[in-house]
Amino acid sequence: MEAVKIESVSVVFGNFLALENVSISVKSGTLLAIVGPNGAGKSTLLKVMSGIIKPTVGKAFLFGESPKLYRKKSPIGYLPQQQNLNMNLPLIVSDVVYMNLAVRKDISKKDKKLMVAEALNNVGMFDLRNRIFSYLSGGERQRVMVASAMVNMPKILFLDEPNTGVDIVNQDDFYDFISHLAGRHGITIIMVTHDVGVVSSYVDEIACLNKKLYMHDKVSNVDINEAMSIVYGETGRIVTHLPNNKSCFSCPFKDFGAGTSDDIKS
Ligand SMILES: Nc1ncnc2c1ncn2[C@@H]1O[C@H](COP(=O)(O)OP(=O)(O)OP(=O)(O)O)[C@@H](O)[C@H]1O
Ligand SMILES: [Mg+2]
Repeated sequence: MEAVKIESVSVVFGNFLALENVSISVKSGTLLAIVGPNGAGKSTLLKVMSGIIKPTVGKAFLFGESPKLYRKKSPIGYLPQQQNLNMNLPLIVSDVVYMNLAVRKDISKKDKKLMVAEALNNVGMFDLRNRIFSYLSGGERQRVMVASAMVNMPKILFLDEPNTGVDIVNQDDFYDFISHLAGRHGITIIMVTHDVGVVSSYVDEIACLNKKLYMHDKVSNVDINEAMSIVYGETGRIVTHLPNNKSCFSCPFKDFGAGTSDDIKS
C-alpha cells in the first residue's frame, strides 16, 4: 500500500516557487531519505506530505486520504527542523513527550506513562526523564523530540534533519533504531538529511530534490556518492551553482541558487 502519494505538486510562497511539479509515491514500511541543498524545498515537501501546508497546485495523499483528513483520525509523527517548544516553561523531559499523548482518550494514564518510558528508552533518554527539558544539550533535546514524535505509535513518521546536534557515538544507535522501526514494525519514515553515511547505511530509498524531484530510487540501485554529487556538487560539499554557468553543463541545478566560492571551480 502507498503510504504517501504526491501528485504534480507545486508550492508558491508569494511569487516564489518553492516546489515545482513534484510527484512521488512511497510504499508503506519504506525508510526514505530526502536530500538536497539548503532552500531546495525539502521541509516544504514534508509539510505538504504531512498536511501542514496545502499545495498551491496538485494533490497529496496519506494512506489514500487527504493528509488533513488522515490526521483527524490517526496519529502522525512529525519532527520539525526547528524545535518550537516554549523554552521558558519548566517542563521536565517526560512531560514534553507526554504532551503528545495527553489528548488521547482511548489510552489509560498508566499506559500513557509506559508509552512515554518506552519512547524515551528507545532514544536513550530514559535516565534523563526527570530533568528540565530546557536545560538539556541541543542533541539531547533533539532525541527527546524524536521520542515525542513517535510516542503515539504513528504509522508514519516525518523527520526533518533528526540528526542535528546528535553526536557521532549516539547517531549509530539512533539510526539503528529508526531503520528497525521501518523494517521490523513496518512504520513508514520520511527523513530529510544531509548525511551521506546515514543514507548509504540505513535507508531504503533516496529522493534528490531541488525544487523539482531529480531522482527517486532504491538506495541499492544508485551510487550514493554520485547521487549526492548531483545535488551537492562534485565533491559532495554543499555547492550551489551560479545561474547560467555554461561550463557546468551537466549540472541540473545550474539554473538555481545564488552561488558560492565553489562555483568558481565548477
Ligand atoms: N512560509 C514561507 N514563506 C515564504 N517562503 C518560504 C516559506 N517557507 C519556505 N520558504 C522558502 O522556500 C524555500 C524552500 O524552503 P525549505 O524550508 O523547504 O528548504 P529546505 O530544503 O528545507 O532547506 P534547508 O536545508 O535549509 O532546511 C526557501 O527559499 C524558503 O525561504
Ligand atoms: Mg529544511
